[in-house]
Amino acid sequence: MRAARLMKVFVTGPIPAEGRAALAQAADCEVEQWDSDDPIPRKDLERGVAGAHGLLCRLTDHVDKKLLDAAGANLKVISTLSVGLDHLALDEIQKRGIRVGYTPDVLTDATAELAVSLLLTTCRRLPEAIEEVKNGGWTSWNPLWMCGYGLSQSTVGIVGLGRIGQAIARRLKPFGVQRFLYTGRQPRPQEAAEFQAEFVSTLQLAAESDFIVVACSLTPATRGLCNKDFFQKMKNTAVFVNISRGDVVNQEDLYQALASGQIAAAGLDVTTPEPLPTNHPLLTLKNCVILPHIGSATYKTRNTMSLLAANNLLAGLRGEPMPSELKL
Ligand code: NDP
Ligand code: DGY
Repeated sequence: MRAARLMKVFVTGPIPAEGRAALAQAADCEVEQWDSDDPIPRKDLERGVAGAHGLLCRLTDHVDKKLLDAAGANLKVISTLSVGLDHLALDEIQKRGIRVGYTPDVLTDATAELAVSLLLTTCRRLPEAIEEVKNGGWTSWNPLWMCGYGLSQSTVGIVGLGRIGQAIARRLKPFGVQRFLYTGRQPRPQEAAEFQAEFVSTLQLAAESDFIVVACSLTPATRGLCNKDFFQKMKNTAVFVNISRGDVVNQEDLYQALASGQIAAAGLDVTTPEPLPTNHPLLTLKNCVILPHIGSATYKTRNTMSLLAANNLLAGLRGEPMPSELKL
């Protein structure tokens, strides 16, 4: 009797243990994995995906028409180890009838926690304060020194009241926030009710918020949304936080706003490009805190993401319902 042919799966880099184990146990798949932690070079990605039935990728892998052509007609499932989808050419993917799995929900808490940490770190100037302790700038207790901004009685504006945006608002509410504003493509009265959040225009949110947290997805409509006009509307005491994608922000305009005192401070978990070059002007500013895209980076969350991504891939290949399938 002839053995059934194995389905080829290409994984674009090492993944946490639970996902790895699920793939290793799949007797119907032959798994090939790129073994470096650095993003896979494009040529190797194109070579690796050729003839594959399934692709498990990261947000750093651009799945565009050229890559889909390189993969060929076998490709049936793309499973991304992310909730963000901006690295996937969804139109092309849909045209070819390829199913897409992603990792919503399982990373919401970790990302919201990081967003709140970044907001507090930025508005209370923690990196600057720690540096002063180390470099001898701390000479005595001084009522005028190292003051920042607090959340109590404040107005918080959330750009994108989706899963993560809501989880951020839920965590900020107990700090005594007085008013929540939000923007999006349309009002979300059901979700907004929990925070009595008001749906406003993007520029009204910019003008009235003391803290702004960007938690939307990157789409053609949100690319460059936070630009000169947006920052000019903001209060000069306001703090801006972005955990969504770097391209939602025009970084030159943000630099000008921070350097000129147009806004008080910014905390960024995401930048353009990633990594941000170490000589980037934003890194010269004391009022800008930059993290290396670590929103979902807890051991547990990354493990759960990897298992979900593996299960999405396997279910898709077997023609079964995927635990988290994107509706195309
Ligand atoms: P959701 O799909 O639940 O939320 C996306 C939000 O984007 C929705 O509230 C949507 O609002 C909003 N949005 C879409 N278009 C616009 C627009 N034109 N203007 C304003 N808002 C808009 O996704 P998640 O909350 O799960 O994730 C959101 C994003 O966070 C991801 O796409 C990813 O880029 C980023 N992310 C970053 C992480 C990190 O490590 N820093 C970790 C995880 C996610 P509406 O539908 O009402 O228009
Ligand atoms: C995502 O999932 O989109 C994040 O950016 C990384 O977890």
